This record gives sequence, structure tokens and C-alpha cells, in this order.
Amino acid sequence: MLTNDQLAKWDREAFFHPSTHLAQHARGETPTRIIKTAKGVHIEDRDGKKMLDAFAGLYCVNVGYGRTEIADAIAEQARELAYYHAYVGHGTEASVTLAHMVLERAPAGMSKVYFGLSGSDANETNIKLIWYYNNIRGLPEKKKIISRWRGYHGSGVMTGSLTGLETFHNKFDLPRAPILHTEAPYYFRRADMNMSEEAFVSHCVSELEAMIEREGADTIAAFIGEPVLGTGGIVPPPAGYWEAIQKVLNKHDILLVADEVVTGFGRLGSMFGSDHYGMKPDLITIAKGLTSAYAPLSGSIVGDKMWKVLEQGTDENGPIGHGWTYSAHPIGAAAGVANLKLIDELGLLKNAGDTGKYFNDAMRQAVGNHANVGDVRGEGLMCAVEFVADKDSRTFYDPSQKIGYQVAAALAAEGVIGRAMPQGDIIGFAPPLCLTREEADTVVGAMQKAVKSVLG
Ligand SMILES: Cc1ncc(COP(=O)(O)O)c(C=O)c1O
Repeated sequence: MLTNDQLAKWDREAFFHPSTHLAQHARGETPTRIIKTAKGVHIEDRDGKKMLDAFAGLYCVNVGYGRTEIADAIAEQARELAYYHAYVGHGTEASVTLAHMVLERAPAGMSKVYFGLSGSDANETNIKLIWYYNNIRGLPEKKKIISRWRGYHGSGVMTGSLTGLETFHNKFDLPRAPILHTEAPYYFRRADMNMSEEAFVSHCVSELEAMIEREGADTIAAFIGEPVLGTGGIVPPPAGYWEAIQKVLNKHDILLVADEVVTGFGRLGSMFGSDHYGMKPDLITIAKGLTSAYAPLSGSIVGDKMWKVLEQGTDENGPIGHGWTYSAHPIGAAAGVANLKLIDELGLLKNAGDTGKYFNDAMRQAVGNHANVGDVRGEGLMCAVEFVADKDSRTFYDPSQKIGYQVAAALAAEGVIGRAMPQGDIIGFAPPLCLTREEADTVVGAMQKAVKSVLG
């Protein structure tokens, strides 16, 4: 077996890591952590250090690590049929079954599932389908897509444009037209601290209406949003937000894309965030929880209204010119089928709701009163703790102090992984949906110590 030193050397010499300080890593100034194995909510690296992964990888290992049911399904699929494509009406038992299972679980009004590989490519598919839809309807000017500041929808050229976070734009010449960004439903960061939650929702709606008025409804095709903002800070929407937004979209014939890459398949304690908040999307993006990341697979669930137009489009123009070699890859599909069965069998939706509430309450109780904790918020098994330099005036820290990263490092020293979210001093938690109350207590206890060690 290779020694850790050898691997660390190769890592610095050969491996281009995503979302990493490339120069520091190449110089060996940041640690290389090579993960060897994992079980339940724990991962173990090659040095034998065990950590409780309270972010489920990148909020994706929803059923927990080491599930042999999924590993066996993947192995069996690889032995029987490792690959066949899905073009021109081809399929496999796994891909057809998974499409059926996804639709059984999807909100009302959904018609078909297109499978891709990542959340980013699923949103690229969505953008193309939206443009195709309005071209077939004879509305070639209706193409702009509204996203929100702090939304995260991927890091491709167009999906990175949908994303509303600076680090994903800077120096990449993004965002590209025709993407527009509107206000994030982030009540804690409202400009006017005296604004009630209700007034803040009205403000978000007015901002959207003003944008539609300014640009012209006949130029705007769709609005995309995560039911709960994820990478932008783990922010559940204020009460009534989605209902109010949906009304505006319906009035102006603007499609709604629910990006459920994080919230799909149980994270909020409901099968989909759209059901959780009463959203009526025309397209739903799925990935992560579809296979619990045992294999790469994503999807675009297309609603009835769009599907009819897509069919009309192919009657008029021939087969749809869209697809990847690995669309509906049988190994990913087999993982998806086994994963969705496991979510049902283990009762993970109920656990995400119940343990999620327990976890959020315990976190609020443990650190909510700390002088530098401005907000503890969450929904289901998502939770965020946001730090402030001064609570009464809600003064944020200077980003150069890197408070979030310091707390995440202190938390790791306690044996727990939380994520320093990329914009603001925010620690996010999104553990596997099988988290127990005892494990939740461990995370909360470690967070209490980490906050004390960094901020006193
Ligand atoms: C809401 C949302 N959409 C899309 C994506 C992009 O998914 P991927 O990283 O698989 O491309 C992510 C990834 O975190 C996400 O959180």
C-alpha cells in the first residue's frame, strides 16, 4: 500500500481540487486529507482519524455511509450491464424503474424525468428546455431567467451565472446574459432591521415585480430558486414567501424551477421542498439525495405544461437535440432505485423531520445566547449558525478575520465536520438523514466548545 507521504506528494503534484486555494495546496500549506472509509455518519481518514460528518459530504450522503444494499445493487448492475445509452428510446430496467419511482414521489403535475449526472448539468438542461419551450410557443424574446443573490445552482457557464455568489463569478466573466438576480429571502440580513418578516416578504415581492416591470414580462421566461437557500447560507424562507412569489410568476406567465438538489428526497422531512412550502414548480432539479451520492446521477423533472410543448416541438422539428453519453447511466440508476427504497424502509423522512427539529432546538439552546451568535436557523436536517461581531447592531465581522473558517477548524478538532459556508461567517450543518439524537447531541456539544474556543 502507498504511504500517506507518497499520496500527499502525488496529491500536490497531480490533483486539481475543486473549490481549493490552488497555490497554497500545491505548496503544501494546506493539509491533504485522504478519506479511507466511512460508516453511518462517520468518516475515517488514512491516518485513522474518525470524524462525525455533520455535512453528509456535500449534503448528499442522505442514507449515511456504508449501506451494503446500494453497494450490492451497483455491483450487480455493473456485472449484468455496466452501460447502455438512453438515446432514441433505449433504456435499462434500472433507469425506467427509477423514472417511475421518482414520479411516484414527485409533487402533483409532473410528467417525465430526464437523467443527467450532476446538479449543474441538470440545471443546464433546464435552461435549454425553458428556451426551447418558449421558442416552440412562438415567444422567442421570452428568455431571461431570474435567480436570487445567494442562490446556488451549479458552477458551469450558465449554471454558474444562475448562482448568486461572488466567488463563483469573479474572474470567470460571469454572470452571462440572460440571467438576472433578485433579492434573497434572507430575513436575518434585511437592510432595514426594523422591518417585520411580513413586510420583508412584501419587499422581496416588490423587488421582483419591479424587475419584471423594468425588463418586460415578455422577455422573462423563468424564475429559479432553492426551496431553502443552501450554499448561500442555509436560509429557510420567511413565512408566506413562496406563495407570494408564485402569485407574481403566475400573473406574468413565468415558469418556476424548484432547485431541489439539496432538498429533494427528504432533507426537510418532506419528500420534496416544493411540497413542504406549497410551491407549484414547472421543473424540478434533483441530484445528491437521488442516489445519496453512491453514484453520480441527477435529473430534471418536467411538469405537464412544459411536457406537452416539448412533444409538440419534436412533432414540428424532429428529435430533441439534447443528451449526454452518460444520461440515465445504469449504475447511477441502480444506485437510485436501491437508495429510494432504503429511504422508505428506514423511515428517513420522519427522522429528518423529528431529529431535525430536536437538532435545531438543541443548537439554538446551546449557542443561541452567545454574544457573537446572531442567528440559529434551520428546517428539517439543515441548520446554520451565523456569527456577528456585535449582536445589538447586527455588525458582521470583517471577512478577513475568517471567523467561520476558524470555527469550522475548531469543530474539526472536536471530531465533527460542519461547513464554513462561502459567503459570511456561517457554519452549516446537513448531516445524513439517519442521524440519531445522541449523534445530534455530539454535534451540538462540539459546536458549543468550538464557539467558545474561537470567540470566548
Ligand atoms: C441547490 C443546488 N443546485 C445545484 C447544485 C450543483 O450540483 P453539482 O455540484 O452536482 O453540479 C448544488 C450543489 O451543491 C446545489 O446545492
